[in-house]
Amino acid sequence: MKYQILTAAILAAISVGAMANEKAIESGSELAQVKGCVGCHGMDGIGIGPTFPNLAGQHSTYLVEQLRHYRSGYRNNAIMAGQAVNLTDSEIFDLASFYANQPLR
Ligand code: HEC
Repeated sequence: MKYQILTAAILAAISVGAMANEKAIESGSELAQVKGCVGCHGMDGIGIGPTFPNLAGQHSTYLVEQLRHYRSGYRNNAIMAGQAVNLTDSEIFDLASFYANQPLR
């Protein structure tokens, strides 16, 4: 009995987690269009040319970190500084979740 309750609790926690992630991916997909990221990094996270990095399938932790570094100026790039400067932490999380979820090619 104890184990059944525990199993149910774990399954519930996993599905809540998955739903939260689904939401972040969806919101990230909208943000990528609204903020214009897709203009350079593509709808599917594949850069539109050789100077635009592919983001598809990258670890979301890495993407979050890079976007924060651009925002703070720690990673210095004129193009991305302008892109990241006004992003909130939750927008960064959603954008990273979206691009990390795009299939690697
Ligand atoms: C005008 C083109 C352009 C737009 C728009 C743009 N980026 Fe970028 N992005 C670049 C370029 C160029 C780089 C490589 C910069 C460098 O060398 O650090 C880059 C780098 C990145 C990186 C780091 C990739 C890596 O492998 O380290 C991330 C993450 C990123 N962009 C996310 C975004 C997001 C999210 C948006 C929308 C808010 C966005 N970019 C909008 C051109 C763009």
